[in-house]
Amino acid sequence: MFVDTHAHLTDEQFKDDWQQVIKRARECNVDKIITSGFDYNSSVEAVNFSNKNENVFASIGVYPENIYEYNDDIENGLKELAKNKKVVAIGEIGLQYTDDMPPKEKQIEVFVKQLSLAYSLKKPIIIHCRDAYGDMIEILKKNKNLLTYGGTFHCYSGSYEIAKEILKLGFYISVGGVSTFKNAKNVQEMVAKIPLNRILLETDCPYLAPTPYRGKRNAPFYIPTIAENLAKIKNVSVEEIAEVTTENVRRLFGI
Ligand code: NI
Repeated sequence: MFVDTHAHLTDEQFKDDWQQVIKRARECNVDKIITSGFDYNSSVEAVNFSNKNENVFASIGVYPENIYEYNDDIENGLKELAKNKKVVAIGEIGLQYTDDMPPKEKQIEVFVKQLSLAYSLKKPIIIHCRDAYGDMIEILKKNKNLLTYGGTFHCYSGSYEIAKEILKLGFYISVGGVSTFKNAKNVQEMVAKIPLNRILLETDCPYLAPTPYRGKRNAPFYIPTIAENLAKIKNVSVEEIAEVTTENVRRLFGI
């Protein structure tokens, strides 16, 4: 059995056929899915969606693009939502230093607030990080006391050097469709060197479908495609990938 640890099943692109998508995922051995929020409203939707589907779980949080909405009311709203037993993580939260994003200082402030929130709720975190690995590692090191419940770097495509720092901090590394792209040799080399007992599988659907479906709508039923590619990179069987990554999910998220 596989787990898709990061999906966006409440996305518009699934509105007409989400039931078939979940059914097909189960037929492909993807028995559990964590659907992720990225602001308050999508977090509410993720929780509602998980309540309707036995094998779907939710992560809730406000990610870099939407941090201007973050205030005490939103934080209290997230705390309320987290009482729901389908909520298994705080995320996606993080830093993204691209031109179209809010200023770094504001991003850092809201990220650290959500690290505290996760700690107070005893939940692991799901980190989104783009072009901000230096600050990210520094902030995590500075706030190590808030990392008791662990977490994962979702859709990680940074260097092996940074991956080593991430592993040292006790985090997992989530591998998705990018690891199957022909032009992502650096990601494949990095993944080859990190231990399997620290790797999680994810799609980040509807985005980033793996080869040979690149450019199409991604969905949880493509997890086996990502796992087969990972098995080749690691030179182990797909069964071993399924077994170890599912055990990793159990250890981190308790599902
Ligand atoms: Ni995502």
